Amino acid sequence: MDKWLENGADWFDTNGNLIHAHGGHMLHQGGYYYWYGENRADENYVSCYRSTDLMNWEFRRNVLTANSQALRTRVRADLSLFDKDKQKKVNIERPKVIYNAKNKKYVMWAHYENGSDYKCAACAIATCDTPDGDFVYHGSFNPFGYMARDCTLYKDDDDTAYFIAASRDNADLHVYRLTEDYMNVECTVHKLWQGEYREAPAVFKHNAKYYMFNSYCTGWAPNQGQYASANSIEGRWSTLTNIGDDTTYKSQPAFFLTLTGTKATSHIYIGDRWGGRDYHASRYIFLPVAFDENGSPVLNFYKKFSINVETGEFLTK
Ligand code: GAL
Repeated sequence: MDKWLENGADWFDTNGNLIHAHGGHMLHQGGYYYWYGENRADENYVSCYRSTDLMNWEFRRNVLTANSQALRTRVRADLSLFDKDKQKKVNIERPKVIYNAKNKKYVMWAHYENGSDYKCAACAIATCDTPDGDFVYHGSFNPFGYMARDCTLYKDDDDTAYFIAASRDNADLHVYRLTEDYMNVECTVHKLWQGEYREAPAVFKHNAKYYMFNSYCTGWAPNQGQYASANSIEGRWSTLTNIGDDTTYKSQPAFFLTLTGTKATSHIYIGDRWGGRDYHASRYIFLPVAFDENGSPVLNFYKKFSINVETGEFLTK
């Protein structure tokens, strides 16, 4: 393994530019890993990179921008607002993309705000026929009238998909089952951890159990991560248990990537190390999830890592 990446350091794409894919997500399709995330520079909202080895990232394009085609499928269709003469951007946060095999669409869900405050607390949808093309924006809405802030998407083994979002001013974490086309919420399956203020949800499955990591709400400042488990997404979720250290190694969960290789299956925690006031200084943390003798997940910090996608091994030092 000749390449190592350092957690929290500057990472560059194959053109030598800093990687901006914050609050992101990954999709493995057609031999490539696609990394989507926030890119707040200029007119951009969501960027997309791809890689065959999870170590070298090729910038593909800004798949959602203030100039993207917008179709009013949902309540609000504005992707850039006009403030007197000045164009003002909205906020698109934590974009997640999954593939719908039935309608052959790549479907993105994200958190939408009007760019002035965090009161919209809506979810936004965009779709594309290819993983890294220009996504068409379908607008934003509040699922069943509820707020939806920090969010994630999870596609289960039977292709049922779920949208999980912090609701009621972040007090509760709602789990919605999506319609078959992934274009709307079908029903609310949970209102988890009432009044516990959990955000930044990220889900993975290991040995028939589902795990959800999340954080407390302290804005850009990191805090103690926690996790819960369940035998199915719609089943009973456990209470929350601490994971990692008291700042989750100065990171907040973005998503998990499960890598199944010839020698190992690795669940990789991908967290944002936010730049805080200097948003563009935000960086990434990749860590392997280990399991202790009771089968409980453990998250340890390692300065550097290297990934072998063939064997599924996640090496650390
Ligand atoms: C964090 C949240 C981020 C962003 C930020 C804004 O709590 O996880 O996604 O919304 O607040 O202050």
